[in-house]
Amino acid sequence: MSNEFESTSLRDMMMASVADVELGRRVSVCGWVARRREHGEHLAFLDLRDHTGILQAVVDGSVDVRAEYVVRVTGTVTARPEGTVNGRLVTGHVELSECVVDILAAAEAPPFQLDERVEVDEAVRLRYRYLDLRREVMQANLRLRARVVGAMRAAMDAQGFCEVETPLLWAPTPEGAREFVVPSRLHAGEFYVLPQSPQIAKQLLMVGGLDRYYQIARCLRDEDLRADRQFEFTQLDVEASFSSQEDVMRFVSRAVLDAAEAATGERPDTIETMTWFEALDRYGTDKPDLRFGMLLQDLSEVFAASQVKAFAAPVVKAMRVPGGAELSRSRLDALTEQAKALGAKGLAWFRVNAEALDSPLARFLSAHEAAALAGVDGAQVGDLVLAVADEHETACKVLGALRLTLGAPPVSQGPYRYVWITEFPLFEGLDEQGHPIAAHHPFTMPHPDDLAVMHTAPLRARSQSYDLVLNGWELGSGSVRIHRADIQAEVFRALGISDEEAESRFGFLLGAFRYGAPPHAGFAVGIDRLVAILAGADTIREVVAFPKTQSGADPMTNAPKHISERQLRELGLRPALKG
Ligand code: AMO
Repeated sequence: MSNEFESTSLRDMMMASVADVELGRRVSVCGWVARRREHGEHLAFLDLRDHTGILQAVVDGSVDVRAEYVVRVTGTVTARPEGTVNGRLVTGHVELSECVVDILAAAEAPPFQLDERVEVDEAVRLRYRYLDLRREVMQANLRLRARVVGAMRAAMDAQGFCEVETPLLWAPTPEGAREFVVPSRLHAGEFYVLPQSPQIAKQLLMVGGLDRYYQIARCLRDEDLRADRQFEFTQLDVEASFSSQEDVMRFVSRAVLDAAEAATGERPDTIETMTWFEALDRYGTDKPDLRFGMLLQDLSEVFAASQVKAFAAPVVKAMRVPGGAELSRSRLDALTEQAKALGAKGLAWFRVNAEALDSPLARFLSAHEAAALAGVDGAQVGDLVLAVADEHETACKVLGALRLTLGAPPVSQGPYRYVWITEFPLFEGLDEQGHPIAAHHPFTMPHPDDLAVMHTAPLRARSQSYDLVLNGWELGSGSVRIHRADIQAEVFRALGISDEEAESRFGFLLGAFRYGAPPHAGFAVGIDRLVAILAGADTIREVVAFPKTQSGADPMTNAPKHISERQLRELGLRPALKG
């Protein structure tokens, strides 16, 4: 901006803070024409736009530019006439006058209006994503994402971590989702697998003495897409040798809190910790949303000797729904259906009225039982109490789901409530052969107190694994890894993985461990999810430059696509029969 006719961008002008730009100075700014308004016969107002904002230029009416033209406007910074100052714009007190307009590129009329107030169908936005990205909110989202990643890198560097890139053409990894495969041309009929995460690679880096590794890692999983899931996503992937679970939680907390601060300007309070059992017992989920109450209360003792058939179960859990007495009978029926679909035998509901409980079950309750239900979580007249009697896990999960249905704000709505969940079970459920299924992955270290339980009551065995949760979304997970061959063999045995299978699936990792593996632990944060919440978006598609639609397609490139028969032949593949 020192030279009188120096070509600058609107951005440079904004950066110099328009307030500091001297009136009367000639400047050149580049950008898009956001809007054109005619002013009488001879003048037109152009709103020039780049990612920093809008600047008004007053040009000759004969200048032939329309919306989305790319222009360079050279003009004199002039105070706007009194009464025309626009307080909503940073540049609202000035405009460019005596303008010379150079057209850098003409533009066709865009297929939709680039205006934040106009709702545009997502398929159309994705078809023309390059136009959608010009919108202020998308600019803000992607720039916030860059700040988050930058802060994470800085935090990991400051904690002595070394960034290492791991291969995308890889072999199967143990995350358990369906994998994307890539045919090999040089080894016809053989395939690479795109990594679901750098899990095995980072453990090999520990064997390789990297000590503290991180990576902003692209991961690929062929799973059903949802608001919080894409085929491709990015993790802050971390692994550290000679480090405990607490060390890793500290490293990751710093990176996440620094990132949050870089994104929003506010540093969240420290992150609290809760065990998996506590989360299930109080919130009915391993991803507790701490932004609102409606905690589950245990009434098992009250109903231990109950005559009420519906409550004959090992555990009775209840939850207060503030103001819920208003819910209609059909809404309560729908909630009951939801509870049944989640595995409950039924759902008991009680409207708290001034005189008594209003419920089909009310007349079967003893006075003691009725009083306990009416007092759940300090219930008041006008509240509703829901109860489920079942095994502990079912009762909790069903009420936990209803809690979200009835109470959860959108995920991105503040305040931000982070929580670490620890002591996850080592296994989740049994497979068809009756073998337990690894809850995290088969390299997760069992809890030191549960090595014996692993064989006697595997579903009760805890692990040294931990998740980070924000506003009810799983942000990331990690674990202390098994680095000792004897414990690994025991876990494989419990999982029903034979020596041969272990060798064929993970042989190279187990082989590496024979050469001196340091104790190590790690974690991966889902960056897309963190950024979405910090950006105030309810789906990660809003913070990914070029996401796929729910059906996994890209309306802009039309991927996935057929490839030519020649290409297929080269890869040793036959064309699929068209469905
Ligand atoms: P996990 O499979 O739990 O752990 O993944 C870690 C985090 O990655 C994010 N994530 C996703 N984000 C968007 N779209 C997806 N399809 C998707 N899948 C996962 C989530 C999730 O919490 N290797 C282990 C980590 C470790 O043990 O170090 C792993 O990948 O935020």
